[in-house]
Amino acid sequence: MALHTLRPATRKMWLVLHILSAGAWIGVDVIVAVLVAVGLAGDERARGLAYQALGSFVVLPMLTAGLVCLVTGLVLGLGSKWGLLRYWWVAVKLTLNLVLCTLILVALNPGMPGVRAHGEAVSAGLTSSLDTANLMFPPIVSLTTLSLATVLSVYKPWGRIRRFSAAAAAAPRSPR
Ligand code: HEM
Repeated sequence: MALHTLRPATRKMWLVLHILSAGAWIGVDVIVAVLVAVGLAGDERARGLAYQALGSFVVLPMLTAGLVCLVTGLVLGLGSKWGLLRYWWVAVKLTLNLVLCTLILVALNPGMPGVRAHGEAVSAGLTSSLDTANLMFPPIVSLTTLSLATVLSVYKPWGRIRRFSAAAAAAPRSPR
C-alpha cells in the first residue's frame, strides 16, 4: 500500500523531476565518455584539458543527478501503487540507483585528484604514469545500467514480488 497517494498533479510534477534528473544523469555520463575519448585519442593540448575537466567538474553534477533521481523515485514509489519493494521493476531500479551512487562515491571520486594532476602534467608536457585506459569503464557501466533502468521504467516487466510469509507457506492448500 502507498504511504500517501500523491494527487495526479503532484505526481506529474515529481515524475517530471524524476525524468529530468535521469536524463541529466545520462547526459553527464555522455560528457564523461566524450572527455575520456578525447583524453585517449586527442592531441596533447586537448588531452590535458580533457583530463583536467574530468578530474575537476564531473563527480558533483553526476552525484547530484543520481541523488535527485533516487529521491524523486522514492517519492513516486511511496506515493503510488508501485511501492518500493512491491514490483520487480521498481526494486531493481532502486538497487541499480543505490549501487551507481555508491560507485560514484567509492570508486570514481577518490581517483579524480589523480586524473586532474595527470591532465596538468600532460598540459605542461611532463610525463605521468596514470593508467587512463581504466577511465573507459565508469561511463560504459553507468550508461549501460541507466539504459537498463530506462527500459525497465517503460516496459515495467516481471510483475509483483511475491512475499512468502511463514504462515502462507505453512497454510494447507484448499481442495479443488
Ligand atoms: C536508476 C535510474 C532511474 C532511471 C533512469 C529512471 C527512469 C524513469 C523513467 C524514464 C520513468 C518514466 C516512465 C514512464 O512514465 O513510462 C520512471 C518512472 C518511475 N520511476 Fe524511475 N528511474 C530511475 C530510478 C528510480 C528509482 C530509484 C525509483 C524508486 C525508488 C524509481 C521509481 C519510479 C516509479 C515509481 C516510476 C513511475 C511513476 C509513475 O508513473 O507513477 N525510479 N523512471
